[in-house]
Amino acid sequence: MVKVTVCGAAGGIGQPLSLLLKQSDLITHLSLYDIVNTPGVAADLSHINTKSKVTGHVGAAQLEEAIKDSAVVVIPAGVPRKPGMSRDDLFKINAGIVRDLAVAAAKFAPKAFMCIISNPVNSTVPIVTEVFKQFGVYDPKRIFGVTTLDIVRASTFVSEVTGAEASTLRVPVVGGHSGVTILPLLSQVAGTDKLTKEQLEKVTNRIQFGGDEVVKAKDGAGSATLSMAFAGARFALNVLEASVKGTSNIVECTYVHLDADKEGAKDTKTIIGDNVEYFSVPVELGAAGVQKILPIGQISTYEKELFAAAVPELTGNISKGSAFITEGA
Ligand code: NAI
Repeated sequence: MVKVTVCGAAGGIGQPLSLLLKQSDLITHLSLYDIVNTPGVAADLSHINTKSKVTGHVGAAQLEEAIKDSAVVVIPAGVPRKPGMSRDDLFKINAGIVRDLAVAAAKFAPKAFMCIISNPVNSTVPIVTEVFKQFGVYDPKRIFGVTTLDIVRASTFVSEVTGAEASTLRVPVVGGHSGVTILPLLSQVAGTDKLTKEQLEKVTNRIQFGGDEVVKAKDGAGSATLSMAFAGARFALNVLEASVKGTSNIVECTYVHLDADKEGAKDTKTIIGDNVEYFSVPVELGAAGVQKILPIGQISTYEKELFAAAVPELTGNISKGSAFITEGA
């Protein structure tokens, strides 16, 4: 039995994400939770002739049944940005939504791999951590902020300037998931040595603020949903591929507590200092979630400047998320 629950399953991300997950043979039960419309989405998806059973659950009274015994809980629940908004502007509404879903997961699926998509990811992941600590079920190896869209975007944008094939290009993106906290490591990508400083800065900025292009184009109708569904499904399925199937050498950059692998995180800490608890880092996935945090590796002088700009904003976002639970702030 491999049950995966999508919380926010009727939303702009939730629906296409659920469709992509429905195509996987690794999942036997796809459980769709939202506060609206999941019976319809579940009925629709349940007609697809793939392996998983699909169930729909709507409203808080059905949350226990939705989430109980899940191997993976994916959370794209909450409000998206409108033009002019930062991800941090979403905190007021989304913090409470993520907290309530985390409480249900801590009670009814404490061993689940938690994949957090709801923004601001820099703060919502610390919220899940603190809730799990309160329930005595905290394991940093199992809680992930999904930053895969930054990596997907980076591959596309870099390929447009270097001419490399986007689908095979792997651009490491570390740090956090908002504006200047998004740190693409272009110096580690083959072919970027031919780019001018101006080109490098332009593509770096595009990766950091790529989400704004979609928010602007959708003109009030939300933020990235389809590309996020693609990225979210890739991440969740990689977690399953490594944990259920035991496939080795699967590496994804993801936003985790650096305690998930203290030894492995040492390299990152020499760059960012001891005070930053959470960071998106290259993670080798395994049976228990985070198997290994891999070194960030060599970074250029320009990237060092980007790191310095990211750290104060990221630490502020982290404290805000943690305090929401520990101090009720
Ligand atoms: P949406 O508004 O289309 O869908 C959100 C869904 O969440 C709705 O169906 C809504 O009913 C549901 N919801 C609200 N409160 C809930 C609760 N208490 N329990 C369960 N479900 C609840 O929004 P969209 O576009 O799907 O975005 C969702 C979130 O994902 C936003 O916070 C957005 O900022 C974030 N996002 C994250 C990205 C990332 O890279 N991590 C990229 C793009 C968006």
